[in-house]
Amino acid sequence: MTYSNYALLLTISVCWVLTPLITGDKVVLPLVIAPHCSDKCGNLSIPYPFGIEEGCYYKPPHNQTSSSFKITCNHSTSPPTPIFGIDYKVLNISVIEGELRTKLGVSYDCYNKTKNTAYWWSSFNLVTFTLSSTKNMLVVIGCDTYAWFKGFRGGRKYETGCMTKCVELEDVIDGECSGVGCCQASIPGGVNNVRVVLNSYNNHNSVYTFNPCNAAFPVAKDAYTFYQQNLTQPVEYWESLQLPVVFNWTIGQHSCSAAKKDGSCLCKENAVCYDPIHEFGYRCNCKDGYFGNPYHPRGCTDIDECKGANNCEKAEYCINTNGGYHCKCPKGYHGNGTKDDRCISNTKPWLIPVLATGGIGGGIITLLLFGFLLHFKREEAQTRKTRESFFRQNGGLLLHEKLYGRRVDTLKIFTMQDLEVACNNYSDENIIGRGGFGVVYKGILPNNQVVAIKKSLKVDPNQVEQFINEVLVLSQINNRNVVKLLGCCLESEVPLLVYEFINNGTLYDHLNDAARASIMTWHVRLNIASKVANVLSYLHTTISTPIIHRDMKSMNILLDECYTAKVTDFGASRLIPPDENQFATMVLGTRGYLDPEYMQTGELTEKSDVYSFGVVLLELLTREKAISNARPEAEKFLTMHFLLKMKEGRLLDILDINIVSEKTIEEIQQMANLAKWCLMLKGEERPTMKEVALELETIKRKGSHPWNDDGSIQEDSESLLVGIPRSDDHGGGCSSGVDSNSYDSRLLTSLGSGR
Ligand SMILES: *[C@@H]1O[C@H](CO)[C@@H](O)[C@H](O)[C@H]1NC(C)=O
Ligand SMILES: *[C@@H]1O[C@H](CO)[C@@H](O)[C@H](O)[C@H]1NC(C)=O
Ligand SMILES: *[C@@H]1O[C@H](CO)[C@@H](O)[C@H](O)[C@H]1NC(C)=O
Ligand SMILES: *[C@@H]1O[C@H](CO)[C@@H](O)[C@H](O)[C@H]1NC(C)=O
Ligand SMILES: *[C@@H]1O[C@H](CO)[C@@H](O)[C@H](O)[C@H]1NC(C)=O
Ligand SMILES: *[C@@H]1O[C@H](CO)[C@@H](O)[C@H](O)[C@H]1NC(C)=O
Ligand SMILES: *[C@@H]1O[C@H](CO)[C@@H](O)[C@H](O)[C@H]1NC(C)=O
Ligand SMILES: *[C@@H]1O[C@H](CO)[C@@H](O)[C@H](O)[C@H]1NC(C)=O
Repeated sequence: MTYSNYALLLTISVCWVLTPLITGDKVVLPLVIAPHCSDKCGNLSIPYPFGIEEGCYYKPPHNQTSSSFKITCNHSTSPPTPIFGIDYKVLNISVIEGELRTKLGVSYDCYNKTKNTAYWWSSFNLVTFTLSSTKNMLVVIGCDTYAWFKGFRGGRKYETGCMTKCVELEDVIDGECSGVGCCQASIPGGVNNVRVVLNSYNNHNSVYTFNPCNAAFPVAKDAYTFYQQNLTQPVEYWESLQLPVVFNWTIGQHSCSAAKKDGSCLCKENAVCYDPIHEFGYRCNCKDGYFGNPYHPRGCTDIDECKGANNCEKAEYCINTNGGYHCKCPKGYHGNGTKDDRCISNTKPWLIPVLATGGIGGGIITLLLFGFLLHFKREEAQTRKTRESFFRQNGGLLLHEKLYGRRVDTLKIFTMQDLEVACNNYSDENIIGRGGFGVVYKGILPNNQVVAIKKSLKVDPNQVEQFINEVLVLSQINNRNVVKLLGCCLESEVPLLVYEFINNGTLYDHLNDAARASIMTWHVRLNIASKVANVLSYLHTTISTPIIHRDMKSMNILLDECYTAKVTDFGASRLIPPDENQFATMVLGTRGYLDPEYMQTGELTEKSDVYSFGVVLLELLTREKAISNARPEAEKFLTMHFLLKMKEGRLLDILDINIVSEKTIEEIQQMANLAKWCLMLKGEERPTMKEVALELETIKRKGSHPWNDDGSIQEDSESLLVGIPRSDDHGGGCSSGVDSNSYDSRLLTSLGSGR
């Protein structure tokens, strides 16, 4: 939305009432926040109605005495200091509570043996900014002292205060502000034009030696505790002291109804206006179910209750609406989808109660039964129809044709029911993963095989054929470093892919868990890198129809209990998410890995996989996240972070200390150079995956690591293996398996023209 749209929006949504502009000269429409307005001073964010530049903050009409919301940003300090009013340093601004936390000077009054040597009384008058009565207190410090708080409330004078005495410093107890050395009074609500005044009964005659000064100040309750030492401070100390206080602020001096009437109300779309008690003016709040800044021209934004919080039985049943949400069961189920009323399949048990009442008025029952059955049949037919339509839409017929035409039996086509049974009706307990690409469930097939069922995204209608081809090719690949695709179900709106189950989490999980990462030695990591490179090289070159992974990242590398890398999710980006929101998360999730050339060409190539693999190498080397806000802005992307450190010759600074040793450093350096090569901006300057795989093989050979060629660990090398299960713990599971890349060549040749 552009700023001119804001202006339009403003005129139609000002507090929901568009009253004709009343007579005369002075209907003041609120300012539109211009693009030049900064929203920060130092690291303090400055939300509207506050602002720094002219035209960026709310200024009351000039015949009102209320305060303006101008903040001055003093750039000569570091970080820059936000100043409000005359010289109040701003600590925090809260729009929701209508609070402003600033620093405020202290009133003091000092003596020597003979006379009053210095005094100063703090005062302020901010009309629409009143000291919060609940969050501040008036504190008075001294041993011969009385002080009070003078002001106006509702046009009438108002005063309150307290007195404190003590004879010796020893009488005073730290933390106790109850009349001996320190006293306190509560601050009345809504007092303006305030002055804090203090005086002494006997000019400190008997106490000036240990208590030269009195002091009195309002202060935020959470920011002050009394200590004995506070009594002994000299005048110079109090002169320069400023303490935090909390102001409540409101807009203008009139109520909501008056502001609405003259069209000056600042509350924006989806916000409500209210009149605070004890204060002039009004405030705005977002309506229930909305969040944001109710004063900002953008107005309040709908809260997506379906995100994160599990308000419904399952996240998928949740439907977000403007200002709320509701739950809805999928077709073929009844119930309201909340946790109290779970979705239940519309199958036969439904009829039992009807049958059970049999006998009473048999005729009616039969009639009812007939009616139900008819309804039931129709619903069943309806469900079948939608399933068939999804099946067709997802390329099911095409798959069928290819499978049966070529008598391939490595890929199983599952029905919806098969998979519902396998993973316990997609119950939450079965969820093993969740991400931008959908939900992964653990399931058990009737033959007791454990599988991972991936409910992912819709198929892009223009890519159905490629999708089906890749599903077929992938199901043919029998490589121990690829997660095997066992089958699929195309009857639901989003295809379900059934994979072999890998039990030890993703490489990402391992690297991001300090304990697990500490036992991933350099050799384990080198081996993972090498195996993954081999697989990608194989899929890029050996097969007649090259397959590009398109989403290489550490989250797509699974590990089994022997740390054997298994790559999953090939060709995932043939699938498109059902709505834009999900697209955003998907792009975000992958952003740190995305080939920069893709931004220009819009096309993913083999060299895109090389780039993404380069990022995975960095993760193995540094254990840092591909994107992280913890790093400086320019180094948010791990690639930038790495390239910068390389350039400065400070690679060592960012390496994971778990892998650095005298023996490994040379190999690490080689891998870092390889990663740098993979990350070249131009695709053509990057190596091919085959070259990468060869290079990693060379590094591995040079180090002559205690690895068998198939990646398993030799048993005599325990020093390297603290905590890593040895192969014999697993009935030989870790060393078995032939590194074969077998596939059905008939199928692959016949698919050759599929792309
Ligand atoms: C603001 O910056 C200062 C100094 O850079 C820092 O000490 C302080 O913690 C920061 N405050 C916030 C809220 O980030
Ligand atoms: C400000 O001016 C308007 C229009 O002249 C008038 O209606 C309003 O009463 C004035 N407000 C004050 C506080 O004088
Ligand atoms: C900004 O801060 C500096 C250093 O504290 C001070 O000397 C100067 O007077 C301030 N400027 C303004 C405009 O307040
Ligand atoms: C500012 O106020 C908000 C809301 O009261 C609070 O969450 C935040 O922690 C505060 N920040 C600082 C630096 O005090
Ligand atoms: C007290 O202070 C005044 C003025 O500051 C000074 O002239 C006087 O000498 C001081 N008296 C003693 C006893 O220190
Ligand atoms: C100021 O804000 C506090 C907390 O939001 C509230 O309890 C109080 O009534 C408000 N008004 C005054 C005058 O303190
Ligand atoms: C009171 O004394 C304590 C302890 O010396 C100190 O931390 C605190 O800042 C003092 N408070 C004031 C208002 O001087
Ligand atoms: C859903 O059903 C439960 C139990 O019947 C009920 O308590 C709840 O209020 C219902 N929720 C909605 C949103 O209808």
